[in-house]
Amino acid sequence: MKTDHLDIKRGIRRNFARRAGSYDRQAGVQRLMAQGLLALAEGRLPRAGRILEIGCGTGYFTQLIKQGCNGASLVALDLDAALVTAARRRLGTAAGVAWLVADGETLSRGSFDAIVANATFQWLTRPAASLAAYFDLLNPGGTLAFATLGPGTFRELAGALEQAAAALQLSGQPAIAAQGFLDGETWAELLAAAGFRMVKLARECVTTAYPSVLTFFKALQAMGATNPEPRPFSPRLLKALIQAYREDYGADGSIPVSYEIIWMVAQK
Ligand SMILES: C[S@@+](CC[C@H](N)C(=O)[O-])C[C@H]1O[C@@H](n2cnc3c(N)ncnc32)[C@H](O)[C@@H]1O
Repeated sequence: MKTDHLDIKRGIRRNFARRAGSYDRQAGVQRLMAQGLLALAEGRLPRAGRILEIGCGTGYFTQLIKQGCNGASLVALDLDAALVTAARRRLGTAAGVAWLVADGETLSRGSFDAIVANATFQWLTRPAASLAAYFDLLNPGGTLAFATLGPGTFRELAGALEQAAAALQLSGQPAIAAQGFLDGETWAELLAAAGFRMVKLARECVTTAYPSVLTFFKALQAMGATNPEPRPFSPRLLKALIQAYREDYGADGSIPVSYEIIWMVAQK
């Protein structure tokens, strides 16, 4: 059955909304992405008078922007009301942020000096159209700065799943959402097609360790970063997957989990 953008978007919102309480405990890589993004955007954000943040989640990056750009007027939005409430609580009402519950891919009004997004653009369902819309929303000279995850994210999981499916002679095994994330070259092409000039591009592969495959799965669930179109593993496939992950990648009582981080700063 074909799933449309709205179904996928509902899945993304549901995944993150359910985890509003546990996201912060697990989101170490997202914090690294946020800090890298601020460093890469350097002096551009503090100079911006009006900033729009897409996908504020529980407000970790919002708080960093607010601290770094105190004079700026900040609009922060997320697909989900529970997350916006958590973010508003984190920053307090005195922060002077305008909070919105909205789909960041359907914005058509407003004018901003900077549009930023941390760990969110990998979930865009219409990236080309959304980048074109952000170009229109930016004032001349305005900055688009985002950190996203590339298709190398969870490469061990994808490899172990392939192994397990082959061992069980299964075809059409459940997909890993990260394999569909866009790579840096594609983002650069989409930015150019939308009219942006690329200012900076950085990439890094970060590998973290988990004590077991199941702890890794639980952490993913706690972050809400699971497949928005879930096709659960059968118990047989799950068992084979865990075994393949341990045997092919595990060492010293832990398993590695890689993330491909992509940072981009572009100018209108
Ligand atoms: C991994 S979290 C990152 C949250 C936050 N930026 C941070 O750095 O901790 C991704 C967030 O993007 C939001 N999101 C995904 N697609 C979105 C969209 N189209 N519009 C608005 N928010 C979206 C999710 O609801 C989630 O809160």
